[in-house]
Amino acid sequence: MRKNIVAGNWKMNTTVNEGVKLVSEIIEKSKDLSNVKLIVAPPFTHIFSVGEKLKGTDIGLSSQNCASEAKGAYTGEVSAEMLANIGVEYAIIGHSERREYYKECSETLLKKVKLALANGIAPIFCVGENLTEREENRHFDVVKQQIEEVVFNIDENDFEKIIIAYEPVWAIGTGKTATSEQAQEIHAHIRKVLSNKFAEKAENTSILYGGSCKPSNAKEIFAQPDVDGGLIGGAALNADDFIAIAKSF
Ligand code: 13P
Repeated sequence: MRKNIVAGNWKMNTTVNEGVKLVSEIIEKSKDLSNVKLIVAPPFTHIFSVGEKLKGTDIGLSSQNCASEAKGAYTGEVSAEMLANIGVEYAIIGHSERREYYKECSETLLKKVKLALANGIAPIFCVGENLTEREENRHFDVVKQQIEEVVFNIDENDFEKIIIAYEPVWAIGTGKTATSEQAQEIHAHIRKVLSNKFAEKAENTSILYGGSCKPSNAKEIFAQPDVDGGLIGGAALNADDFIAIAKSF
């Protein structure tokens, strides 16, 4: 059985104090939630403090990235081992903002995914097309290639730990959301692509939707059979909205 997951990607927002306050509110307001796994992904500077708050709760701790090398002379990078060592359980890898602004390609992302897995961290691997690709009707091919170039290169046991996030770039931070039909159609396609390599194991993969997901649209999107939750940006910075989204299951 695949898990329902709602993950909050805080991106480059909040100070440490604000992040600790936000997670405290999330803990408080999520007490009666049972059918969904919550995950928060604060900036690197707050991971330790947020992790301390999360001790004894079921809320998962994620980073938003990790280095593509294991250790050494890579100024400014944070390794998967360092993250695992402070209790990080998940890492968002391949977010479209990383692909676009920091030119992360599949080769780099595969290294990150492998290092995360080697350190016991579950990757939340992001895929998604941009507006031109959608308009040219290439979105199915784009996500297929993104998955084949990375996920197809990990072994079957590791595959069980992977979470996929489908985030159409044109819906991120724009207020535009994929319709629930568009989300279902491409999530089903992603599961089909995964099953080409991993057969029935793809049935157990949680595939999250991301892109202007909010309390007002989450219910309809999460009701789709191949949508197993959301990767939330802006709305994850408000505890009430984040919990309202999680209660949409
Ligand atoms: P928004 O929810 O702000 O559109 O961001 C989505 C996202 O990129 C989550 O990773």
